Amino acid sequence: MEPTTAPSGQQKDTRTVDTLTITDNRTGKQYEIPIDNGTVKAIDLRQIKVDAEDFGMMTYDPAFMNTASCKSKITFIDGDKGILRYRGYPIDELAERCSYLETAYLLIHGELPNKAQLEEWTNNITTHTFVHENIKKFMDGFHYDANPMGMFVSTIAALSTFYPSAKKIHDPQERMLTIYRLIGKVPTLAAFAYRHSIGMPYVHPDNELTYAENFLNMMFKVAEPKYKPNAVLAKALDILFILHADHEQNCSANAMRSVGSSHVDPYSAAAAAAAALYGPLHGGANAEVLYMLDEIGSKDKIPAFIREVKDGKGKLMGFGHRVYKNYDPRAKIIKKLADQVFEVTGRNPKLDIALELERIALEDDYFVKRKLYPNVDFYSGLIYQAMKFPVDMFPVLFAIGRMSGWLAQWQELLLDPEQKIARPRQVYLGYDKREVVSLSKR
Ligand code: SDX
Repeated sequence: MEPTTAPSGQQKDTRTVDTLTITDNRTGKQYEIPIDNGTVKAIDLRQIKVDAEDFGMMTYDPAFMNTASCKSKITFIDGDKGILRYRGYPIDELAERCSYLETAYLLIHGELPNKAQLEEWTNNITTHTFVHENIKKFMDGFHYDANPMGMFVSTIAALSTFYPSAKKIHDPQERMLTIYRLIGKVPTLAAFAYRHSIGMPYVHPDNELTYAENFLNMMFKVAEPKYKPNAVLAKALDILFILHADHEQNCSANAMRSVGSSHVDPYSAAAAAAAALYGPLHGGANAEVLYMLDEIGSKDKIPAFIREVKDGKGKLMGFGHRVYKNYDPRAKIIKKLADQVFEVTGRNPKLDIALELERIALEDDYFVKRKLYPNVDFYSGLIYQAMKFPVDMFPVLFAIGRMSGWLAQWQELLLDPEQKIARPRQVYLGYDKREVVSLSKR
């Protein structure tokens, strides 16, 4: 049943409409601008003009620090309270009581599946884990030391050439088929990228295994006739996929929506989202944390490193967040998960440096004043490394989980009657009209 009030407690669609009274001191004119869901529509400001020639008022908001680009019912975050919910369910409950595929179903369909729905959903995804054999030739074209995230981004885009019918984005069946294919194939593409980088043969999916078990199979199977996944590690990976599944309008979701708004096929939009996630400020941060811990080397070097960060000579990777001004709820869950994984794999010695780094940072006014806390990327890499994933695979692991969130955001965009092709305006500060001077006179 749809919620009647937005999580922030404001009345939803049925509430009385409030207004903002704006006085333009340049003209003395007053304007009544409607307030809707705690926002004003930027387009309502265009009526504010100094004369008939005036284009009208716009808002200027680099990096969208204070701009809602869409209305969404998928994920709710309260940055001050450290709250994260998918379709109203708290992230810690989903991590504890659901599987990743259940959570992916929730993100896409809006409700948790019943037993029959989950069986059908799991079967549809499992029967789409294979990729066309030509994808292997595509992968083989990369250098042996190609970054696996670079390979992943390119291969997601390449999938669009194998499934031209995905362009029928207004056909619900075609959309759902692509959703099955992308969620089903991303672990295969990720594992193939890794196997290529270590010169090992590709391992085909084993559809008798669960989603996370099969990914471990395709990553780490050697000569044994059937890969036997470690149940604790497979469960930990499944939980990590849940924690990474969606995060409302983050940089890569914005890329998925912006590129998807041109009505391109979803493979191309997902490749753009994966490219955005690759950035060290976004999904690439989980790898940067490990590089940072390696650079620090030992606990006694932490004070000097912190001083460098405070002098502006670098960032404390895995810390800070545009929305969370409190502890990222996902980081808390990951920190607990680390203990379970390390019982199987042995403790990652870098955990001691990370814990000390966190302790010092959370006592230091520079970080406290800026409300910088560990985010999802601070501890996740320690688990991945303990599970024998190479560091440059970490952003790929993030992308596997996030694929279901990107697809949920993409589908919501397509079905939103208020959405059109994304085309922001600008504040032009360049030259006024001027004449070309001939080359001989320049
Ligand atoms: C993800 O958006 C999402 O939801 C993303 C994500 C998801 O699930 O999709 O949660 C996943 O991307 C998590 C973030 C991973 N990135 C990192 O860990 C990289 C390190 N973090 C920073 O780069 C930064 O905190 C961001 C990019 C995450 C957020 O940047 P903002 O919101 O633009 O904040 P800012 O850069 O304007 O920082 C405000 C101040 C600045 O100092 P002053 O100029 O005010 O003096 O805080 C400082 C920054 O220098 N600061 C940091 C810092 N992060 C911010 N200083 C040191 N170390 C840091 N990590």
